[in-house]
Amino acid sequence: MKVGIDRIEFSTPNRYLDLVDLAHARGADPNKYLIGIGQRKMAVPTLSQDIVAMGANAAEGMFGGLDDKEKASIGLLIVATESGVDQSKASALFVHDLLGLPSSMRAIEIKEACYGGTAGLQLAADFVRAHPGTKALVIAADIARYGLNAGGEVTQGAGAVAMLVAENPHILALEERSVVRSRSTDDFWRPNYSAEAFAKGKYSEQVYLEMFAEDWREAESLGLTQVSGLQALLFHIPFSKMGRKGLRTLESVIPVSDYERLTARFEKGIMYGQEVGNLYTASLYLSLISLLERDESLCAGDRIGLFSYGSGSVAELFFGILQTGYRDRLNRTGHEALLAARQRLSIDEYESIFSASLVTDGSQQDIEDGDPAALHALIRMEGHERF
Ligand code: CAA
Repeated sequence: MKVGIDRIEFSTPNRYLDLVDLAHARGADPNKYLIGIGQRKMAVPTLSQDIVAMGANAAEGMFGGLDDKEKASIGLLIVATESGVDQSKASALFVHDLLGLPSSMRAIEIKEACYGGTAGLQLAADFVRAHPGTKALVIAADIARYGLNAGGEVTQGAGAVAMLVAENPHILALEERSVVRSRSTDDFWRPNYSAEAFAKGKYSEQVYLEMFAEDWREAESLGLTQVSGLQALLFHIPFSKMGRKGLRTLESVIPVSDYERLTARFEKGIMYGQEVGNLYTASLYLSLISLLERDESLCAGDRIGLFSYGSGSVAELFFGILQTGYRDRLNRTGHEALLAARQRLSIDEYESIFSASLVTDGSQQDIEDGDPAALHALIRMEGHERF
């Protein structure tokens, strides 16, 4: 049975910070951010655009195309996030309500740093394989938050990707064989008492690259890499330079023509991420959307590799085959319009939004920072309940 991504959409808040402005404010050379980190802008979420709102907004983008029968066949909703809104109730239940999904289904939240989206996708694919005729909705949604003046400040961002997983998918059929490894590392984490993540920046880059090398070697030994047949290789992109470093490790081990092809496609895959920043669980999948929408040369039948990394750490290298008619399921015009319509913030505006983007009084707090482009938003906290 062919199972994979049948629909894919993303949402991101309608405000952003230009990283040249951030460089000037922090006394850094703009080229450090533009070239050294490889990012141009980062999305800045207001309090009303938390992961529930962004996740529902991403899924809403695909729901116009779903008929009632298809909606009723969704048997599983997974929200993958490391920016959850509750320690107990799954954010998937809020999303389930906002999207009007059927009650006869499972709705859960999962977590393993930036790997969570891939965990969700693979679990969803297994679910569909085990329950023929059903579909699964996977939402990866995050707010990357390191803090004002923090080392990772330039690698912040926010947004969500929603993927409908189904039999005979229209976009990408997932191969069942992949390589995956888990080991406990302390490279990046966010304890319950902290609103901001802690990262051992250089160490986290090292673990990412080590685990990519281990995955690649194992995939090679299993005959899964077959580089001559691999038309693109996508990476988890906390910032584009990180993925570029991963790709560069292959420069000396694969033929030049293959490397050049993978590099050209990598460039297409980072275009949207450079505009919105790190989406943690959703970054790899935003890269997939970017590649498919911005590359004109891929065609049905092409094989794509995807490297997923989540600090802590789990790393998986997996593969998919592009399906006939995949371009008809994309939304390049809509996504370009979404990015173009965003409002550029001054540094003062960014800093004040950043400082105000935590719930301070769950007993009674009106939230009036609405994103006019967003259908779903958090508008009020009352009695510690969300509205
Ligand atoms: N022109 C061009 N390049 C310049 C430059 C200039 N004027 N000035 C500096 N650079 C280059 C540096 O040479 C360096 O390049 P290399 O990485 O190729 O060596 C790059 O810019 C970054 O500069 P620094 O080495 O000074 O790095 P930094 O101290 O600013 O830290 C960081 C960078 C570690 C990424 C930091 O932003 C950070 O901690 N980010 C959060 C952690 C993270 O994203 N880790 C990634 C792996 S973990 C993961 O993937 C999970 C996840 O999503 C978090």
